[in-house]
Amino acid sequence: IKCIGVLTSGGDAPGMNAAIRAVTRAAIFNGIRVKGIYKGYRGLIAGDVVEFKTDSVSNIIQRGGTILKTARCDEFKTIEGRKVAYETMTREGINALVVIGGDGSLTGANIFANEYNIPIVGLPGTIDNDLNGTDVTIGYDTALNTIMEAVDKIRDTATSHERLFFIEVMGRNCGYLALNSAIAAGAEAAIIPEISIEKDQLAELIEQGFRKSKNSSMVLVTESEVTGGALKLAERVKNEYPQYDVRVSILGHLQRGGSPSAQDRILASRMGVAAIQAFLEDQRNVMIGIRENEIDYVPFQRAIKKEREISEELLEVLRISSI
Ligand code: F6P
Repeated sequence: IKCIGVLTSGGDAPGMNAAIRAVTRAAIFNGIRVKGIYKGYRGLIAGDVVEFKTDSVSNIIQRGGTILKTARCDEFKTIEGRKVAYETMTREGINALVVIGGDGSLTGANIFANEYNIPIVGLPGTIDNDLNGTDVTIGYDTALNTIMEAVDKIRDTATSHERLFFIEVMGRNCGYLALNSAIAAGAEAAIIPEISIEKDQLAELIEQGFRKSKNSSMVLVTESEVTGGALKLAERVKNEYPQYDVRVSILGHLQRGGSPSAQDRILASRMGVAAIQAFLEDQRNVMIGIRENEIDYVPFQRAIKKEREISEELLEVLRISSI
């Protein structure tokens, strides 16, 4: 491999810049040229490509978002779109790709890699922590901290007014952000998609009754069709349990912003270096994962399988610590 292209795709995540920096510097360190591809797969199709040197990635490790910009690209889901993307690679002399993104981005990478026999290494860049084969994804820790700080603040007003708050967080179909931020912020419960399929978490919560000595309650909810989202839950409470004074707070995109935490910067740096190492070891079509603090190569097929299970232990910790 003489030249790699690097792109960020899908929802941005804090730490993506640290990953771009590590990929760029590790490639150059190993005598491989690097081209930055702007706006994800859309930029690959449009030929939005710039050669990167070591100083192209100076002063970015601490910045949120992605200097390469990102996009959700429908064109890349078509055979014609991917053909044009491949033509860009040939024209630019790019022999391999590093794709930094979540579930959808790695699904696209997997199809593209198989179709054109291109070596691709993926880095899990998403706040959702919804990929298989890695304990954590880049951006997850920062988002957790952001949510925790927001919930701490909401607690002040919730307590003053003795209110029940439903706080909606991101995560799509994955409850890790809601569950771990509930633990970290000392919330009463988390309503998450993995459990909503089996049971009515709201009814269970109300039946148990909130602790009498508490004068406020905070419930974290994953945005998802399965949970119904915070607004729907609040509506139900208003109708079925009018004794509660209910409010909703949807944290939204502020969860994706901000300077990455030390953990995310270190994770992204390790994963970025590992991506180049993977190419040197003739690995291809794998995502870099981290298990028990060790780097691992996870085949795309496994990484994107939609079967990430929620930790029973974490559920138990929340249940016990919120009595
Ligand atoms: O995948 C990251 C994520 O932030 C999800 O948690 C959320 O459902 C989605 O992206 C929002 O996407 P968009 O920014 O395109 O509205």
